[in-house]
Amino acid sequence: MLQQACEGKQNDPLWQQAGITEQDAERYREMLEYVEQCLQLPRNSSVGKTSIDYKRFEHTKRVTSWAIRLYLACDEKERARVNLDSLMVATIFHDSGYNSCQDMADHGNEGARIAAEYLESVGYERDQIVEICDLIAHHSRKDLLKSGDISGSLVILMEADWLDDMGAMGIVMDTWIQAASNPEVSFASIKGHIERYTLRQQYKNRDVLRSKAALRFWDEKTAITQAFFDQLCRDLEDPL
Ligand SMILES: [Fe+2]
Ligand SMILES: [Fe+2]
Repeated sequence: MLQQACEGKQNDPLWQQAGITEQDAERYREMLEYVEQCLQLPRNSSVGKTSIDYKRFEHTKRVTSWAIRLYLACDEKERARVNLDSLMVATIFHDSGYNSCQDMADHGNEGARIAAEYLESVGYERDQIVEICDLIAHHSRKDLLKSGDISGSLVILMEADWLDDMGAMGIVMDTWIQAASNPEVSFASIKGHIERYTLRQQYKNRDVLRSKAALRFWDEKTAITQAFFDQLCRDLEDPL
């Protein structure tokens, strides 16, 4: 397990470990409520994972937890380059534009527009709104993780976004998608789905990650996916 350089104790909620005050946590809860409302709008665009009742808002909460975990794993120098408030707000709003954008590829820009409007209404400074909206607008540009000169906050947001849906989450999702989309679902078809999606992505996408912490979390997820897959293969082996 990752060693956590925490301000709080390890059993405290993640936000307390990161030194977020109760007052700020309350502001973030209000933002989450606002984003939940945005994501309840009927969807304009056709978005993947529609064969299952994939809740984008639940994903948002999980990505926020991942962002805090990755922040906690940063050393002091790395943390000094991250504005935790901007990171939290950008993560909470990163997919807020999913349901109101016309084209899924544009959901980052739409999320930035939604966030700007909200943040202006609650009195954020112009410079910080620009920083937050820039993070939201670019969060899907995973290619930047490999090549670009990008901020520590954008690295954390993109890696957090990518860590969700992998490992145990990926196995559950592959199973869920098979059950929802294949009338002839079977153990073997689920095994095939895991092999084609989560297991493949665990190996294919590893190189894109940049931070040591994200790589270690990723490798934990690869290990559990591979072990699960190997055991399933053994369980399903024909006797003769
Ligand atoms: Fe996104
Ligand atoms: Fe996301």
